[in-house]
Amino acid sequence: MNTTLNTFEILMAEHRLFVRVLGALETCAQRIESGGEVAPRELLRFVEFFRGYADRLHHGKEEDLLFEAMIEAGFPREAGPLAVMRIEHEHGRALVSFLSALGKKPAWAASDRRAGLEAAREFCALLRGHIQKEDRVLYPMAEQRLPDEAQQKLAGAVQAHLQSHGAAEHDLLELGLALAKEWATRARLRATSDDESHESHGSQESHGSQESHGTCACGCRSHS
Ligand SMILES: [Fe+2]
Ligand SMILES: [Fe+2]
Repeated sequence: MNTTLNTFEILMAEHRLFVRVLGALETCAQRIESGGEVAPRELLRFVEFFRGYADRLHHGKEEDLLFEAMIEAGFPREAGPLAVMRIEHEHGRALVSFLSALGKKPAWAASDRRAGLEAAREFCALLRGHIQKEDRVLYPMAEQRLPDEAQQKLAGAVQAHLQSHGAAEHDLLELGLALAKEWATRARLRATSDDESHESHGSQESHGSQESHGTCACGCRSHS
């Protein structure tokens, strides 16, 4: 991570990576929902990223450094925004543990697929909402209310944390980028295959008057 960024820019840059990997997990969930093949162990790659990078490294910086600095500056530990953020971290941990247990199964029954789909979607919604609250409310509030001296001390602690976890962070960053890239490619291939299927369908059947409105009888768009 760029050492010229301040504490909040570093944390928000990490959020941006989470959003990319959440997109990959959502694509994976769509594949499960549509009956496509997803190896259970694929979930373990997401688990490794979210448990390692999002929880241990990122939430570690938040809970051990940022939140403690905010508590020192007068924010309550057991109520208000810090308590809500901690509860959401715990909720995320529970969902990732659930996905981990599913990922360790050699094969999935239909009930496992449904449970995995629901847990993956719940986790994506939870983390997206959590990121919005931190980016839009918690971090600006901390930046505004932490005294300069506390912010400098926090920046030093965040840099020390980054340096001491550099190797792990690098490997997890690579894993996150690989997941984002691989699942984006799968989504593109699927979209291409769907388009070709619809084009073929369109060449064999008349779309009638609906074609002029850009929606054909098979439900696809852009035939006009
Ligand atoms: Fe957080
Ligand atoms: Fe965060």
